[in-house]
Amino acid sequence: MIRRMTALVALLLLVVPISAAPLRDEAVSSRDGLVVCTSAPACDAGTGILARGGNAVDAAVATAFALAVTHPSAGNLGGGGFMLVRTPNGDATTFDYREKAPLKATRTMYLRDGQIDISLTNAGYLAPGVPGTVRGLALAHKRFGKLPWKELVMPAVQLAEEGFVLSDALSKSLNKQLSGAMGRFPTSVEAYGKPGGGRWASGDRIVLKELGKTLRAIATNGPDVFYKGWIADRIAEDAAANGGLITKDDLAKYEAKERTPIRGQFRGFDIITMPPPSSGGVALIEMLNILEPFDLKSKGRNTAESMHLQIEAMRRAYLDRARFLGDPDFVHVPIADLISKEHARTLSGSIDPLKATNSVELGKDIVTVTAQEPDETTHFSVIDRNGTAVSNTYTLEGGFGSRVVVKGAGFLLNNEMGDFNKNPGVTDLTGNIGTPANLIDPGKRMLSSMTPVIVAKNGRVVLITGSPGGRTIINTVLSVVLGVTEFGLGVRDAVDAPRMHHQWLPDAVTIERDGTTEEVVQKLRAMGHTVNVAGTQGDANSIEVDEGGRATGAADRRSPDGKTSIPRGLTSRR
Ligand code: GLY
Repeated sequence: MIRRMTALVALLLLVVPISAAPLRDEAVSSRDGLVVCTSAPACDAGTGILARGGNAVDAAVATAFALAVTHPSAGNLGGGGFMLVRTPNGDATTFDYREKAPLKATRTMYLRDGQIDISLTNAGYLAPGVPGTVRGLALAHKRFGKLPWKELVMPAVQLAEEGFVLSDALSKSLNKQLSGAMGRFPTSVEAYGKPGGGRWASGDRIVLKELGKTLRAIATNGPDVFYKGWIADRIAEDAAANGGLITKDDLAKYEAKERTPIRGQFRGFDIITMPPPSSGGVALIEMLNILEPFDLKSKGRNTAESMHLQIEAMRRAYLDRARFLGDPDFVHVPIADLISKEHARTLSGSIDPLKATNSVELGKDIVTVTAQEPDETTHFSVIDRNGTAVSNTYTLEGGFGSRVVVKGAGFLLNNEMGDFNKNPGVTDLTGNIGTPANLIDPGKRMLSSMTPVIVAKNGRVVLITGSPGGRTIINTVLSVVLGVTEFGLGVRDAVDAPRMHHQWLPDAVTIERDGTTEEVVQKLRAMGHTVNVAGTQGDANSIEVDEGGRATGAADRRSPDGKTSIPRGLTSRR
């Protein structure tokens, strides 16, 4: 959305004065654990589990299922994501539950007359990859869970069956969907339309009966009912009846994977994050490495000099992303080289401190403009009283995914196939990328920008963060990580701080509406940068932990319904 705003609008926004964000979610601290997420009832579901003696992974599973009810634009059963877990002894692991291309998928399935037909990946039955969320949450629970699975799913069952109260923002976004893209699909209108017709209003209670039935089956029977039982039947029947590709075989064969995290070092902090098929972890560590030789702190966080260096780091890392990154089960990704200090030294050395590099010149071997990605997805952070930390980002891709609710099962399917490169070998300046690493192949996972991160120092967790926002995710996370590690900010200030995004191509930086001044913009332009000022970027629900083990949450104020939740009955705000 940010990038779609016209230059004229961007220019007008420049006259808007810098204003403080509304004061909501002042620092909330606890020694008994926290959940920070984008929808208050779902955060409370997670801390309800902490209060019952569950650990951070239990709470994360409960939060994820609850978000599938209360945050339908991105919380999901029909999508996929990444979970990063760090235990108090410093061990860390990740769970990759990214969707996969159906076995019937082909490299050119979104081409019509040689051109990409974007309507096919935006919405409808051809858009979804094979969902991974239920398998992924079950795998994480199997590995780390303390409380019984059923107990973790039941809060979501209750929210769906008994209903929950719509916020102003959710009522508006449902109305918009129902009169727009979602309105095309009768099962979606049946699930999310207001009974008796009319528009939803803030304060209305929404009941999601079929979603409740599906969740109850998952609670009672475990993940196999989704992948091999009656829910799989419903998904496959619906696809077959409507020109979709997902079959029972796809679902039965889907597996989530435990993968070793990738690690970097930045100014004495350990950066622990997600390996491919996330592009985010590699790009984040690469950017931090590129920036390490520069003293950003003395230049000031929001000065043109400091922003120029950050933009140049982004430009270089996103070019490597386009060149090399894809599903490691299908293509060789040179991770160790990309995150090495040596590679970063070469890239840092290529930065002119006074002048913008030309992106097309820099990447002329593969000249292209990267495709625009929708900016829906959701991130939550969890810590328990023993210090186990979870950083989880999961998604339906676009808001409400494919907008298709599975008939008889009540949940939305993703439109994640759009994250693949869709026109093999064709790279151009109109927004298409055709490099090999991320082409569609049956059973392959599409490249993601989701970047769950845990930062540690001297053996203890310092920061848990992540964000939605398509390709902007990686730069949002960079901003929060730099805020804490380079600029010495507390988590509240690091999350509130202005953000910006450059993704190599299009060769333009977008700075948050309230994030700069006319003087800085003019200086950046004088260096040769194309600058847009528009919108907001990300929803980085984050946690910081102090030396005494006290965790402080910061729900991102850019999103209206988020919360830092503490376990009821256990804690005081201390
Ligand atoms: N759907 C956003 C991402 O995976 O990057």
